[in-house]
Amino acid sequence: GERFSIVMVGDGAVGKSAMTLRFLRDQFHDEYDPTIEDSYCKHIEVDGQEYTLDIIDTAGQHEYRGLWNDQFLRAGDGFICVYSLASMGSFQELVGFRDQIWRAKESEDIPVVVAANKSDLEEDRTVSAEVGQEFARMSNAFYIETSAKTGFNINEMVLELVRQIVRT
Ligand code: GTP
Ligand code: MG
Repeated sequence: GERFSIVMVGDGAVGKSAMTLRFLRDQFHDEYDPTIEDSYCKHIEVDGQEYTLDIIDTAGQHEYRGLWNDQFLRAGDGFICVYSLASMGSFQELVGFRDQIWRAKESEDIPVVVAANKSDLEEDRTVSAEVGQEFARMSNAFYIETSAKTGFNINEMVLELVRQIVRT
C-alpha cells in the first residue's frame, strides 16, 4: 500500500510522545522525557486499504526545537497539531506551529488534525472545546479530543488524518 509521513507537532509536554506510544504499542508512561527527534513505522488498515505510516515525533521544548529543520515539515503528508486542554499556553503556541507547516508546504490546504490532548484532565481544563474547534476550523483541520493516558480517540485521530491525506 501507500506510504505516508505523519508529523506530530506542538508545545513541550502536551503528550506527543505519549500519543505516539499509545498508538504504536497501546502503552502509557507517567514519566516525562523530552523528545529531541524520534521516528517510527507502523502498518495499518484504513477503510479496507493497507498503509505504511512513518510517524515523526518532534521536539516541543524550545531548547530542542532549533534542531528540527523545515525538511520534516516539507516531507510530511499530514500533521497532528497537539495541545493540552489543561494548558492555555500550549494552545496559544499552536498557531505558530500551524503557520510553520503552511509555510513549509507553501499551502494552507494541508491535512491537519488538531488534537486537544489530556481529556482525562477535564477538571483542569482551561481551553474550551469551542475555542479549540474554532482554531481547527480556521486551520482547515479536523478537531478531536484525545487522551494518551486512557487511549481515548487516539486511533480515531490517526484514522481521520489518513482519510484526509487519501482525499487530497
Ligand atoms: P516534548 O517531547 O518535550 O515535546 O513533550 P511531548 O509533547 O512529547 O510530551 P510527552 O508525551 O512526553 O508527555 C508529557 C507528560 O504528560 C508526561 O508526563 C506524560 O505522561 C503526560 N501525558 C501525556 N499525555 C497525557 C494524557 O493524555 N493525560 C495525562 N493525564 N497525562 C498525559
Ligand atoms: Mg516528546
